[in-house]
Amino acid sequence: MLWWENRFLSVRGQKLYLGETAASAFAEKYGTPLFVYSRAQILANYQKLRAAFAGQTDAEVRICYAMKANFHRRILKIFKAADASIDAGSPGEVRAALDAGFPPEKVLFTGTSVSADDLRKVFAVDGLTVNIDAIEQLEVMKNVRDRWFKNKKIRVSIRWNPGIGRGFNPKVITAGKQSADGTPIKFGIEEAKVLAAFEKASASGFNPVGLHQHLGSGWVKEDFPMVVGAVDKMVLKSAELQRKGFPLEFLDFGGGFGPRYIKEQKPFPVEQYARYICRQVRRSSLKIQAVVVEPGKFLVADGGALLVRVEYVKESYGNLFACVNGGTFNTLPRPAIYARAFHEIVNCSRVNGGRKVPVTVAGNLCETGDVFGKEIMMPVPKPGDILAILCAGAYGRSMASNFNLRPIPREIII
Ligand SMILES: Cc1ncc(COP(=O)(O)O)c(C=O)c1O
Repeated sequence: MLWWENRFLSVRGQKLYLGETAASAFAEKYGTPLFVYSRAQILANYQKLRAAFAGQTDAEVRICYAMKANFHRRILKIFKAADASIDAGSPGEVRAALDAGFPPEKVLFTGTSVSADDLRKVFAVDGLTVNIDAIEQLEVMKNVRDRWFKNKKIRVSIRWNPGIGRGFNPKVITAGKQSADGTPIKFGIEEAKVLAAFEKASASGFNPVGLHQHLGSGWVKEDFPMVVGAVDKMVLKSAELQRKGFPLEFLDFGGGFGPRYIKEQKPFPVEQYARYICRQVRRSSLKIQAVVVEPGKFLVADGGALLVRVEYVKESYGNLFACVNGGTFNTLPRPAIYARAFHEIVNCSRVNGGRKVPVTVAGNLCETGDVFGKEIMMPVPKPGDILAILCAGAYGRSMASNFNLRPIPREIII
C-alpha cells in the first residue's frame, strides 16, 4: 500500500482509483481539470477527530469546520449531517453556512478588517457568535448595534493573540508578534489588552461568551510542543478571566493540525492533542460548557484530488515538463503561493510503473511559479495522460481565481 492510499484513493494494478471508479473514467466523463471529493474520506477524518475527544471531557466538544478550506455546498451538508459547527470568515461564508442548513447557534464568525457593513450583516443573524479581532473594533460594533439592532444582546468572543504562533509557512503563522519572515501579525488582541477587551465588550452591551485563538496552519509532529504551550496559556488566561467575573461558555483552540502532504512528514498527533487539551481544562479551575476546535485542512485536504490532462511533454535546457491543462492560481494556488506546499502527483494510468525520472508539472498560466510540482519522480508521461494532484481538497477551489481568464474547474463529490 502506498502511503497516501485511504478510503478515497487506491491503486489497483497500475491504475489510480477514486472510490470504486478509475480516476481516468471521471476525467473522461466530466472533463479536466476536475476536482473530485470523497464523502467517505471527509467523514472518516471528522470521525477520527470526534473519536480523539471521546470520553476525554464532560464538556461538549464542538468541531467547527473552517469552511474557508472548501465551501462546496455538499461538503457543508456532510458536516451539517455529522453535527459539526462552522467557522465562517466573512458574511458570505455565514450566508453559505445558513443556506446549507446550519443553525446560527452553530456558526462562529471570525473576521479580520471587518467593516460596518459586514457587522450589519452578521448582527442580523440571531444566535450567531461574533469573534472580535481588535479592541478598536468595539466602537464600530457598538455604533452598528445601536443604529440597527437597538438593545440586541449579541454573543461575542474575543480572539486573542497568545504570542505563540505556528505554521508550515510564514504566510500562515497567525499568532505571535511577527511571522517567521518578519511580517507583523495582524490577527487577534494582544495579551495585555484581553481583559480590557472583555470589560469593554461587556460595558458596550455585548455578551462575551468565549475566548479564541488560532496559531496557524499545517502543523506536523514537530510542532506539538510549541502548540501545547499555547494550550497552557489559553487555559491560564481563561481561568484568570473567569476569576475576574467573565463566565466563559467556550474555549476555542482554533485549527491548524495538518493532513499528511508528504511521505517524510510525521503527522501531527491529533489524539494526543485532544487528550492534552481536555486534561489541561480538567485540571484547571475552569467551568466551561464547551471545548472548540476549528480545523479546515485536516478534515478535507486528503478527501480531494485534482485531475489534469497532459497536453504535451517538453524538454528545455535539460528540464522535463509535463504541460497540463490546469493552472495553479485558477485551481490549486497553494504550490504557487507557499514555498514548501508540496502535493504528491501521480499518473493515473501508471502510478508506479516504469523507470522514474524528475518531471516538473507545469500549468497553463503566464507565471513561472505556475507549477504544481517541481521535479517530481514519475514515469515519463505521455500526451493525454491524466495526472492526479493529491491532497487537493483544502484551499484549492476556495482560493482559486480567474487569472488569465481561465475558468475555475468543475467539482464532483463521490
Ligand atoms: C480563524 C481560523 N480558524 C481555523 C482555520 C483553519 O485552519 P486549518 O485549515 O489549518 O485547520 C483558519 C485558517 O486560516 C483560521 O483563520
